[in-house]
Amino acid sequence: MFTQTLALLALYAHTALAVQPLVIQGSNFVNSVTGNRYQILGVAYQPGGEAGYKPQSGEDPLSNGDVCLRDAALMQRLGVNAIRVYNVSPDINHDECASIFNAVGIYMLLDVNAPFSGESINRGDPESSYTASYLNRTFAVVEAFKNYPNTLLFFAGNEVINDVPTGANIPPYMRAVTRDLKNYIAKHSTRSIPVGYSAADVRDTLIDTWNYLQCTTTGDDSDPSRVDLFALNSYSWCGDSTFQTSSYDTLISDFQSTSVPVFFSEYGCNKPSPRIFTEVPVLYGPLMTPVMSGGLVYEFSQETSNYGLVSIASNGSLQLRQDYDALQGQYNSLNLTAIQGSRAENTSVTPPTCNSTLILESGFNNNFTIPETPSGAQDIINNGVSSSNVGKLVPVTNTKVSQVVQGTNGQTMDLSITVLADDQSNTPSGQTSSTAPTTTTSSAPAATTSKKSGATNLKITSCALLAVGFLAVILL
Ligand SMILES: *[C@@H]1O[C@H](CO)[C@@H](O)[C@H](O)[C@H]1NC(C)=O
Ligand SMILES: *[C@@H]1O[C@H](CO)[C@@H](O)[C@H](O)[C@H]1NC(C)=O
Ligand SMILES: *[C@@H]1O[C@H](CO)[C@@H](O)[C@H](O)[C@H]1NC(C)=O
Ligand SMILES: *[C@@H]1O[C@H](CO)[C@@H](O)[C@H](O)[C@H]1NC(C)=O
Ligand SMILES: *[C@@H]1O[C@H](CO)[C@@H](O)[C@H](O)[C@H]1NC(C)=O
Ligand SMILES: *[C@@H]1O[C@H](CO)[C@@H](O)[C@H](O)[C@H]1NC(C)=O
Repeated sequence: MFTQTLALLALYAHTALAVQPLVIQGSNFVNSVTGNRYQILGVAYQPGGEAGYKPQSGEDPLSNGDVCLRDAALMQRLGVNAIRVYNVSPDINHDECASIFNAVGIYMLLDVNAPFSGESINRGDPESSYTASYLNRTFAVVEAFKNYPNTLLFFAGNEVINDVPTGANIPPYMRAVTRDLKNYIAKHSTRSIPVGYSAADVRDTLIDTWNYLQCTTTGDDSDPSRVDLFALNSYSWCGDSTFQTSSYDTLISDFQSTSVPVFFSEYGCNKPSPRIFTEVPVLYGPLMTPVMSGGLVYEFSQETSNYGLVSIASNGSLQLRQDYDALQGQYNSLNLTAIQGSRAENTSVTPPTCNSTLILESGFNNNFTIPETPSGAQDIINNGVSSSNVGKLVPVTNTKVSQVVQGTNGQTMDLSITVLADDQSNTPSGQTSSTAPTTTTSSAPAATTSKKSGATNLKITSCALLAVGFLAVILL
């Protein structure tokens, strides 16, 4: 028994091939080991749309390993390094999916809220929805995801403030939920996981929302009610637009002095369709990267709103859409050395002090006194959630996609994931999916290598795989 435990421990050490956790320094995401800047090349991931969240039947977008394997293989070829998942259940096991995305170098941005009653702050009635039971659920989401190294951040809210009336009532609650989540994480997670907000790109409220949430009441960045990052859902670049026509220039001048990372938590206007994604080289080019940290394309799967990169049939077969090929072409043209391989600048920025003078729009809340934590929730912050669903990495042994996947040209693709060494995040592969020869070997993506030798780490992978086989024999 003792030997088996030792074997298991050794195995765990070997299979914990992992992306390096990211940290925030000033207005940048930074790889905690290499010190290089990280920019998000992401996609929103919610197959099935909101209806893909079915906690009563144990389903959410990260509950089925076979589905995640298929989608992770396609995202790896595409070149994304992050997904955003909107609705997750804290009571479902996400180990397989999280481990697959980790193995291919893809980070996860997770919304702590969900669509059913009691699972979010109600825009029309924030006071009665800010309860211990609501907060307990958000803490349970933290428990479910805190131990995955590829958990990048949590969103405390998404577009809860979307006009001046909601700007009058909601902001103190967003700071309150941020505070409670950050206090929970500080007490119950071995690493610090950032918490932020995803805003609607509404001119009247965007800048006030950013200032209300980024400012500090303690004079430094120790104020837990202050967001660690700020994101916005932007659809202002449509078709063959420009930095000026899309108003991206206004965003850059507005956010120039940001004290936290800023990025697009959604982008990709779908008119005209199919999309050509000419915003990509601008978003990752010299006009925007000094201020912004990339963004996530809305969205991976085709749903009724018509923003998909791929179409998924109910039997699990999948076809790439032209948008996938177009985005892949744009990603392939990026200079990844400039985007991911550089040292971070702007690593210490002093946050503004909260002051009613920061708020410009008349009617937007300018009072920084926020609601107290409900007493029942304070007990949970002190003692932890009474739930045992704490996620952990598991070995990824199956790498071959079983579903039928076709390129835009109708050709069936032979798809696998390539497990990356443990210091790598995914990068564009330089290949084109629908026209390239479809063999497994050609699907190996190029990865950003750092100081560690990729070859050594790949040996560790096979060693871990051997160990899995060996252990299986022992246990049989
Ligand atoms: C970051 O640093 C660059 C280069 O010094 C500067 O141009 C830019 O304004 C800074 N951005 C922020 C958000 O401080
Ligand atoms: C799966 O569904 C797609 C789309 O409806 C269809 O074209 C395909 O033949 C189906 N595949 C199988 C194996 O049933
Ligand atoms: C890519 O960016 C790096 C770092 O900024 C630069 O040295 C290199 O010349 C660029 N490569 C190309 C092909 O532009
Ligand atoms: C808010 O800003 C005004 C104008 O800059 C300043 O006079 C005032 O002292 C500030 N209030 C606080 C509480 O810092
Ligand atoms: C700010 O809000 C708090 C809590 O709602 C309230 O007690 C206080 O009077 C408000 N301050 C001002 C200046 O309106
Ligand atoms: C908190 O959430 C967990 C996980 O869903 C659940 O097991 C537990 O009963 C909840 N506790 C309270 C006090 O609501």
